[in-house]
Amino acid sequence: MTGDSHMMNNMNTIPLACVVLAAGQGTRMRSSLPKVLHPVAHRPMLLHVLRACELAQAQKTVVVVAPSMTEVEAAAAPHRCAIQSRPLGTGDAVKAAREELKGFQGDIAVLFGDTPLMTAETLRGMQARRREADAWIAVAGFRPANPFGYGRLILDAQGRLLEIVEENDATPDQRAVTLCNGGAMLFDAKRLWPLLDRLGNANAKSEYYLTDCVALARKESASCVVAEIPAEEILGINTRVDLAQAESLMQAKLRRTAMLDGVSMQAPETVFLAADTVLGRDVAIGPHVVFGPGVTVGDNVEIRAFSHLEGAHIANGALIGPYARLRAGTSLAENAHIGNFVEIKNAAIGAGTKVNHLSYVGDATVGAGTNIGAGTITCNYDGFNKHKTAIGSGASVGANTSLVAPVSVGDGAIVGAGSVITQNVPEDAIAIARGKQANLENRASRFRASRRKSP
Ligand code: UD1
Ligand code: MG
Repeated sequence: MTGDSHMMNNMNTIPLACVVLAAGQGTRMRSSLPKVLHPVAHRPMLLHVLRACELAQAQKTVVVVAPSMTEVEAAAAPHRCAIQSRPLGTGDAVKAAREELKGFQGDIAVLFGDTPLMTAETLRGMQARRREADAWIAVAGFRPANPFGYGRLILDAQGRLLEIVEENDATPDQRAVTLCNGGAMLFDAKRLWPLLDRLGNANAKSEYYLTDCVALARKESASCVVAEIPAEEILGINTRVDLAQAESLMQAKLRRTAMLDGVSMQAPETVFLAADTVLGRDVAIGPHVVFGPGVTVGDNVEIRAFSHLEGAHIANGALIGPYARLRAGTSLAENAHIGNFVEIKNAAIGAGTKVNHLSYVGDATVGAGTNIGAGTITCNYDGFNKHKTAIGSGASVGANTSLVAPVSVGDGAIVGAGSVITQNVPEDAIAIARGKQANLENRASRFRASRRKSP
């Protein structure tokens, strides 16, 4: 590279391609779901890695899978998958992606599908590190609390990377090294493929180790460098204990990002977000609020304690909870209020409408400025099919009303408390559908007296 092109080549102009290894079975998860599909913050861990590749503006990303991992292939789409026919090691796995990356010039990052905390910043950092040092390979190094099981990064006195030695192949001196291989490695594309061709498998596991590329490069006097990154970014998932740890780190990250973006959390450590949760400005979240996937929240929304939300769109100014449950297909228009012990499912609630206490509104539309009284239930299910309830604007549904769907309540209508509504209520009508009350005068004391006499 000439001095000129060096100057012009800022970090973002070296094209990037990524290879994500995911062919391992993940037996220690003890699961029928492939390891890389286990979710972290409601997103399969593989997709976190793919997202990092996208954010680092990778031009192409290839996921290496084992034969018949069709579920993983489907999850990876639109990214391409390459099949490693037998698990012969990480070096062999990268070879499987060769055809897909034929002719690609630039940086090729090799990542693992089971490190969901990997970030685009780290990838960019590795690119910068490789470019500065004009190295063939940049390796993500880290210092784990317990280095057991990791490849050790062996440096010379000048801090240059000489080789990576796997735990099983290391001498006691090498095992004492605490700087470890995080697994992510970045190669100059034109060097990667020839190095892979030269890998052997004369080692403790009889595998083709990708990590041996470092020693092979050094034999040609090429330099290799370490980009040191925080241990938590490289946390690899092998068991469900690791998975829980990744979840906890991911949650901390999501909360922090949300707060820095203008969300208040009274007790952030009790709030659980999904990777795709979208929160507006000046959203206030109380303690113990849980977000499932697919929630978008506008500005100035307050979500009070112990609410659970998934698949819901919430417009500006809405007030939710405490103890509200918003299920898939909920949409709340501006300034809607959903109060305690209210469940909403597949329903659009109009602007300024209030459903404040103890109600179930499912498969329904409710217009603007309507009040739904305490204990109102849309009876949407007859045991066979789901039916719709349509409630207009400016209506008032009295407490403890059952709306037996399919049924509608027109604009401005009033439904008397305790009604069981089985027929459509026209616009502006008052509907009362409940048993008539009988007052039996002076009968209570007689009734009590008669009871007292009996044994
Ligand atoms: C690897 C590194 C080690 C590093 C550690 C970090 C090698 C030889 N060793 O060791 O230096 O410290 O990761 O976690 O690379 N895979 C395939 N096909 C295979 C083998 C593995 O796709 O044939 C995939 C696995 O699904 C996994 C990744 O490659 O996602 C790493 O494989 P794994 O067996 O976990 O390597 P480690 O022994 O942990
Ligand atoms: Mg591993």
